[in-house]
Amino acid sequence: MQKSVLVIGSEGQIGTELCDALGVQGNRVIRADIRLQTDEAKLHYQLDATDKEAIERIVEEHDIEVVYLMAAMLSATAEKHPQKAWELNMQSLLHVLDLAKEKKIKKLFWPSSIAIFGPDTPKKNTPQETVIHPSTVYGISKRAGEMWCAYYHSVFGVDVRSLRYPGIISYKTAPGGGTTDYAIEIFKSAKGQGRYTSFIEAQTITPMIYMSDAITATIALMEAPVESITVRTSYNLDGLAVSPQKLEEEIKRHLPDFKVDYATDYRQAIAASWPESINDELARSDWGYTIYTDFQRLVQEMLTHIE
Ligand SMILES: NC(=O)c1ccc[n+]([C@@H]2O[C@H](COP(=O)([O-])OP(=O)(O)OC[C@H]3O[C@@H](n4cnc5c(N)ncnc54)[C@H](O)[C@@H]3O)[C@@H](O)[C@H]2O)c1
Repeated sequence: MQKSVLVIGSEGQIGTELCDALGVQGNRVIRADIRLQTDEAKLHYQLDATDKEAIERIVEEHDIEVVYLMAAMLSATAEKHPQKAWELNMQSLLHVLDLAKEKKIKKLFWPSSIAIFGPDTPKKNTPQETVIHPSTVYGISKRAGEMWCAYYHSVFGVDVRSLRYPGIISYKTAPGGGTTDYAIEIFKSAKGQGRYTSFIEAQTITPMIYMSDAITATIALMEAPVESITVRTSYNLDGLAVSPQKLEEEIKRHLPDFKVDYATDYRQAIAASWPESINDELARSDWGYTIYTDFQRLVQEMLTHIE
């Protein structure tokens, strides 16, 4: 059945592809972002996600049932603007949680991140429930958001669902200031200049997934029957074990002259504080999380499509 869905942060790396996928599924997709978009064929609003009344107007005008809140300030940018990051990441979430509490929308998706984990979290096979002491502004806002989601679910019965996304690799829309952005830049440089200077150390591994797998997981979670959802903070999701060195080696199989050198910056400490692999048993058993794109295929796809 056709649903009216609102995607806030629709022009970002994930939002653009999520909107397309929701549209293909037959939903009526309303896009909203602080950035204007140029394709007039798409139903789009310029919206500040911290303005609750403006969100509410769109929800009422279009009989919105489901909201995907993708607007946020990401990890690297948030370290430079802590106050703004906290305000955007928290206020926008509380506004949509309140709309769900007031029964103005039926369901809500809000992404968390592996950035909630800190340096004292077990690095390998990180459990769903473990030591969670985020060391970044972004991680703090995501962990606080998770707790708000669980609170609104248990106290007000709000159907809010969430994933701890790993780093997401894609070619359609440029990434928005995250620590794992290097894993996209590297492909652009490989095809362009034939060399790349990495701001992350060669052997620092972080879990990452290809965009199509992130979108499939998001939609699978949102379509799962309510009784199968057992995690109301946010589900752990594992990814492929990616490091600059592994990317360099795989890219070289396609472009043998490609070279990477290193000039690490403040983002190295952020990446080093995150897990290398994640235990995502619950996501797999509750609603069937699967990674379809393996590392070799991901590299091949990126080299084929990135401009
Ligand atoms: N991309 C990743 O690797 C990754 C990993 C983990 C979690 N996430 C989370 O997924 C979500 C989407 O991430 P993304 O990579 O698409 O981010 P992005 O930065 O590419 O996109 C965010 C979008 O939000 C918009 N926006 C910013 N401030 C706004 C405001 N005040 N009002 C309305 N719109 C505003 C931006 O213009 C942008 O289009 C975020 O919550 C992010 O924390 C992303």
